[in-house]
Amino acid sequence: MQEVSEVNILVVDDERAQMQALCDTLKDQGFHTIGFNSGRLALDALRTGHFSLLLTDLMMPELDGIALLQAAQQIDPQLVCIIMTGNGTITTAVEAMRVGALDYILKPFKLSAILPVLTRALAVRKLRIENAALTHSLHEHTLALESANSELERARRAKDHFMATMSHELRTPLNAILGFAEILQMKLTGPLNPEQEEHVEIICSSGKHLLSLINDLLDLARIESGKIELNPEPVMCQALLKEVAAAMQVLAVGKGLVLDVHVPTSEVRLNTDRRALFQIVMNLANNAIKYTPMGSVTLDLSQTADGSNAAVCISVSDTGVGISAQDQARLFSAFTQVGEHGKGTESTGLGLYLSGELAKLLGGRITLKSEVGCGSTFTLTLPNMAHGHGV
Ligand SMILES: Nc1ncnc2c1ncn2[C@@H]1O[C@H](COP(=O)(O)OP(=O)(O)OP(=O)(O)O)[C@@H](O)[C@H]1O
Ligand SMILES: [Mg+2]
Repeated sequence: MQEVSEVNILVVDDERAQMQALCDTLKDQGFHTIGFNSGRLALDALRTGHFSLLLTDLMMPELDGIALLQAAQQIDPQLVCIIMTGNGTITTAVEAMRVGALDYILKPFKLSAILPVLTRALAVRKLRIENAALTHSLHEHTLALESANSELERARRAKDHFMATMSHELRTPLNAILGFAEILQMKLTGPLNPEQEEHVEIICSSGKHLLSLINDLLDLARIESGKIELNPEPVMCQALLKEVAAAMQVLAVGKGLVLDVHVPTSEVRLNTDRRALFQIVMNLANNAIKYTPMGSVTLDLSQTADGSNAAVCISVSDTGVGISAQDQARLFSAFTQVGEHGKGTESTGLGLYLSGELAKLLGGRITLKSEVGCGSTFTLTLPNMAHGHGV
């Protein structure tokens, strides 16, 4: 509560003597008071001064208490008003409360009657000020938040645009480099000596790696901006797994690994986006080979025909380094590599994130079972709503 001496009370009564008497009485109680015998003069004072309470007579010529109260609240919305009135005008006093007065006191009044009203009025004034400050600060915070949000949105759009444009811009010259390197490699422009052959081989393999990185970044940009377009079509899963295995065979053989494919004899057909499905299985198979020093990698296809829960499962198992339970939880975040095995120059930690997001877009999910030192099994489960006939 404010100290009484800090409180400025504006007293307005057209009967000068009464106004003066009230001012003096309140001054004796320690209040700061200023009195006027006209509403207009009181309003002028309100415009230039700082007041906590308005104590005004109701019936006054020129500007009555209600009009004064309304004009005063326009100037200071937190101002607390108390109406002073004679017995005959109680209905009007009630009307004054309806338009914003906090209370009314009946004339003639004793100090003992007015002090509790003033105390309550000051408490209300304090609450109004606090409330206004809170509303103001809430408003400021909302504005700051809105501006931070739109700045963030702008930055996000700029980043998406940059990633998409840069990836395109990078791919074009890179394709030219790869194309011409392949022409050299195929000796279409003449023979190469062994050293030149080795150099061209390095250009090709580094270029392909860079291209796959750029493609990953392009996918990341598309996924994050929600711009991936899916084109569902009937996909023969057996054929798709065999295609992945064929593409990965060289890599597996190069590491001395056995690459197996287990598929059921009956056809497994899924209506899905072929490119996305192929990319997921390629990523999983690529990881399995990359993180398996010896042993085997197996691609498995199965389907469950359980009514509405019918699903196709594609598992990629390896006998590799395995992943600890603690690391498994964060594997599917972008740019995440765990353990020491992934941190080579060839990896960015995007593969599983992209695969997980693509799996979600296809309506499925990837689950993982793994034991450190024994190997891992990543399983992609996709719903097969119209079992045997695709989604
Ligand atoms: N089959 C696996 N066995 C053991 N660890 C794995 C296996 N697959 C993934 N990991 C771990 O998960 C991490 C994330 O895999 P992810 O495919 O996202 O990235 P990456 O293979 O490192 O790079 P990128 O796929 O972008 O070239 C890897 O760095 C590796 O530590
Ligand atoms: Mg990977």
